[in-house]
Amino acid sequence: MNILESLESKNRMLPEKYRNMSVDELENLVRDIKAKMGKKLFIPGHHYQKDEVIQFADATGDSLKLAQLSADNKDAEHIVFCGVHFMAETADILTTENQRVYLPDMRAGCSMADMADIYQTERAWEFLQVLFGDTILPLTYVNSTAAIKSFVGANGGATVTSSNAEKMVRWAFSQKERLLFLPDQHLGRNTAFNIGIGLDEMAVYNPIENILEFDGPLEKVKVILWKGHCSVHENFTVENIADVRRTNPDMKIIVHPECRREVVALSDMAGSTNYIIEAIEASPKGSAWAIGTEMNLVNRLIAQHPDKHIVSLNPHMCPCLTMNRIDLQHLAWSLESVMEGQETNIIKVDENTATNAKLALERMLELS
Ligand code: 13P
Ligand code: SF4
Repeated sequence: MNILESLESKNRMLPEKYRNMSVDELENLVRDIKAKMGKKLFIPGHHYQKDEVIQFADATGDSLKLAQLSADNKDAEHIVFCGVHFMAETADILTTENQRVYLPDMRAGCSMADMADIYQTERAWEFLQVLFGDTILPLTYVNSTAAIKSFVGANGGATVTSSNAEKMVRWAFSQKERLLFLPDQHLGRNTAFNIGIGLDEMAVYNPIENILEFDGPLEKVKVILWKGHCSVHENFTVENIADVRRTNPDMKIIVHPECRREVVALSDMAGSTNYIIEAIEASPKGSAWAIGTEMNLVNRLIAQHPDKHIVSLNPHMCPCLTMNRIDLQHLAWSLESVMEGQETNIIKVDENTATNAKLALERMLELS
């Protein structure tokens, strides 16, 4: 069954029953199943998930923390992952044969991860080897398919998250002269810039046209950035920053490094989801913040810190649509299917792919 067929197949779609249940009924169902299954069930929830889902998470975290928790959890037979597809794949790779990982809605993908596929990656690698020889180490943001992680692992590279990107880029340069960073050009550019690599030493690989975008002599290239981006974080602009500076000059601006270079450069602080949460928590009462990251998280921070003035850097921002596909109805469906022993929405990475993908993930986890 190809991916389209599997998405269209009936047992991948939310059954009518859950659409007709009230919020109370759904919440009671989830509570009841959690109580019955106890430690056999583990529900990790990414910080960008909706409140209606995150209230039932056994652990919340950014992508690094959720990967670490998955690797450490040996008790749960069933892991119902409230996040997006690549995170559930990562959990499957890092857990044992006896543990099963489920994604409550198979449509919860990531538009950034979709900007690089394994065929494009292999084509790019061949092309870049011709240009640069054996001088490149591949690094992939965890926001990528298991197949790409596997390719990276097989070629000596590692995964990175926004929490450890600097450390991983430094490590990559201890291994090879250059690096290929997939699939987020902005995280790659911001991270390399922070460790002292000039913007004029970074080329962009365009996977659609199979070309390298770079002005200057090729020997100068140290970082090759895959031309991908997050469709959520790219919506924060220099105009948003100018508006905040004009209307709220005392407000601090903090953004995720998936934002464009010019946005990060004009902000006061930039860092991973976790970094943003900790910065807000540590800030004094009465402080004022404009946050450039996903809207479910920004709204949660606003609710959790009524003593602080917090706004979204972009007042017209929406939540991440794919993260939002996991809702209370899908969670209830997923849990009930697990309880009834049905094989619904299981995420299983084939063994061949998983072996090398695990290498790439473990290299990161050891250094984190
Ligand atoms: P974190 O690594 O900060 O959890 O980010 C994951 C993600 O998808 C950001 O858009
Ligand atoms: Fe992907 Fe961006 Fe959504 Fe994160 S916020 S899951 S990178 S689309």
